[in-house]
Amino acid sequence: MQLVKGLEGFIEAPHPDKLQNIEEMQKFGIIGYSDSIIQSFLRAKKAAKSNANILIQGDSGTGKELFAIATHYMGIRMDGPLIKLNCAAIPETLLESELFGYEKGAFTGAGRTKIGKFELAHKGTIFLDEIGEMSLALQAKILRVIEDKIISRVGGLESINIDVRIISATNRDLWQEVRKLKFREDLYYRINVIFLHLPALRERREDIPLLIDFFIKRYIEQEGVKITQIDEDVVKLLISFNWPGNVRQLENVIHHAMIMTEDERISIDDIPDNIFTSSSLSGDSMSTLAGYIKKDNVIITDLDLDEMEKTQILKALEKAHWKMSKAAELLGIHRNTLTQKMKKYKLK
Ligand SMILES: Nc1ncnc2c1ncn2[C@@H]1O[C@H](COP(=O)(O)OP(=O)(O)OP(=O)(O)O)[C@@H](O)[C@H]1O
Ligand SMILES: [Mg+2]
Repeated sequence: MQLVKGLEGFIEAPHPDKLQNIEEMQKFGIIGYSDSIIQSFLRAKKAAKSNANILIQGDSGTGKELFAIATHYMGIRMDGPLIKLNCAAIPETLLESELFGYEKGAFTGAGRTKIGKFELAHKGTIFLDEIGEMSLALQAKILRVIEDKIISRVGGLESINIDVRIISATNRDLWQEVRKLKFREDLYYRINVIFLHLPALRERREDIPLLIDFFIKRYIEQEGVKITQIDEDVVKLLISFNWPGNVRQLENVIHHAMIMTEDERISIDDIPDNIFTSSSLSGDSMSTLAGYIKKDNVIITDLDLDEMEKTQILKALEKAHWKMSKAAELLGIHRNTLTQKMKKYKLK
């Protein structure tokens, strides 16, 4: 499909060896062609073929849920259920009944039998989201199910066999939680047979233009708006941001811009101001931004912009031992752009 205008210069044709993986990822809505995202996907795919429990770790908005779903549907349990449990969201008093269900009449208000999450997930996968937020009481209960592979509903006498595969996700360093005695070590080893780390967006900036294209198309469809173009300078800026909220934050920024724009083009004025904060800005985005005299609240520096840019390019080139593609990657710009800029600043 054709790219949104303005993005062409930022997206390269992927290496032929990667094509099959990229297409497969797309089927699950996972967009990207960086080595790191493909590596993560291949690990997930391998893990999916087993029954081993998987722990997915990544900063907020890196796609943990997306990967958990993909892993279930690539795996041997794909025909079984996938049941999600948000560990942070269950009040302590409802724990038992959420997890194990209850029999009719088990307590006041139990008008009929309710099947719990573990039983629902039988022969399939249970996705324990935000597992790092789980209370110690819940941890103990889950550990018991993993060990015994048996549950009984609240108020019930029957033991029910449970065959589930556990995929958990967290944005915490769970091992640190173990050390702080906030997470049980025995449970940690049970759920973390295979560890899958998802890279932060700033570690795979080359995927940003692809994601921009993907989200523009998504919201053209969802919002029924017409967007045909994004300014190249905006793309540059978005590539250079640090994205503390990762892919979700990028998605929101694009969505916002598409609603705010007065025409069919996304330009700097459509980008929400609240992302111009110090945690979002990298050195590169500072210099790109300084090129704009936007609204009053935008950081305007009176440094010699060209000099700043030149220094950064030089730094990147030195770091990359003057390998053009590597330096361009470090700068988050296309190789051709780098060549142009080197000419401009007479760098050789
Ligand atoms: N590689 C990707 N390609 C396309 N969309 C993505 C990708 N990664 C994440 N997203 C999108 O970003 C949003 C956040 O993803 P997801 O909910 O999977 O992240 P998460 O890691 O579970 O976040 P949190 O830690 O906040 O729970 C979703 O809309 C998802 O579709
Ligand atoms: Mg999530």
